[in-house]
Amino acid sequence: MSDAASFRFMLCDSAPGDDENIAAIYAHHVRVGLGTFKEVPPPAEEMRRRREAVLALGLPFMVAVAVGRVVGYAYAALYRMRSAYRFTVEDSIYIAPDFARRGIGRALLTRLIERCSALGYRQMVAVIGDSANTASIRLHETAGFAPIGVQPAVGFKHGRWVDCVLMQRTLGAGAATLPKVAADESEEAFEAKLKKIAKAKPQSSPKAKE
Ligand SMILES: CC(C)(COP(=O)(O)OP(=O)(O)OC[C@H]1O[C@@H](n2cnc3c(N)ncnc32)[C@H](O)[C@@H]1OP(=O)(O)O)[C@@H](O)C(=O)NCCC(=O)NCCS
Repeated sequence: MSDAASFRFMLCDSAPGDDENIAAIYAHHVRVGLGTFKEVPPPAEEMRRRREAVLALGLPFMVAVAVGRVVGYAYAALYRMRSAYRFTVEDSIYIAPDFARRGIGRALLTRLIERCSALGYRQMVAVIGDSANTASIRLHETAGFAPIGVQPAVGFKHGRWVDCVLMQRTLGAGAATLPKVAADESEEAFEAKLKKIAKAKPQSSPKAKE
């Protein structure tokens, strides 16, 4: 059961002042969960770099705000750095534990899908830690993702082997049409963009997700 209908929150683009809250939400899931394979919570500074790397590529990094603070966030990162993957993104979504099951995850993911579709991306991949991560698997199912495979026991966390569940959905026309390859969407333009970002922010990886 969900009390989502009665719970009020706002979705916004993330801002520099959100980094501490974002880091605190992520730290909780790093410490107690298997959804991420990270084992040591990164500091807010690392989350800032991650956010900036996402934004530098023109991808969305959004937060959900309720009771005056950030209670969840979601972003899209490039799925892989090789240029042929440039129309495919990977989503990441984390909700503060005391605000789970109130419709925030669904709202963030729905908006992320809309925005990535509008940007011209064609596929979104979810890389979900743990076959028993029912919350994330169900959330992605309800957002139109289909299971595409399980990598058994590729992780080891909290003293046990952990599967990686891969799910995927099309964005926009998916593979039904070829991408509109404008000058700024060519392979050369993509590589140039990555180089420019790496030069400007040498400590940032444009692929924000581990
Ligand atoms: C997965 C996660 C983002 C879901 O966010 P949320 O705000 O709690 O989800 P919502 O309230 O929007 O739920 C949307 C739907 O997802 C499914 N769902 C969410 N939590 C669930 C749970 N604990 N058990 C079963 N289904 C669940 C339901 O289908 C739900 O719809 P319903 O409430 O109408 O039944 C959140 O649990 C989370 O942060 N998990 C840990 C981090 C993680 O694994 N992130 C994904 C890695 S990329």
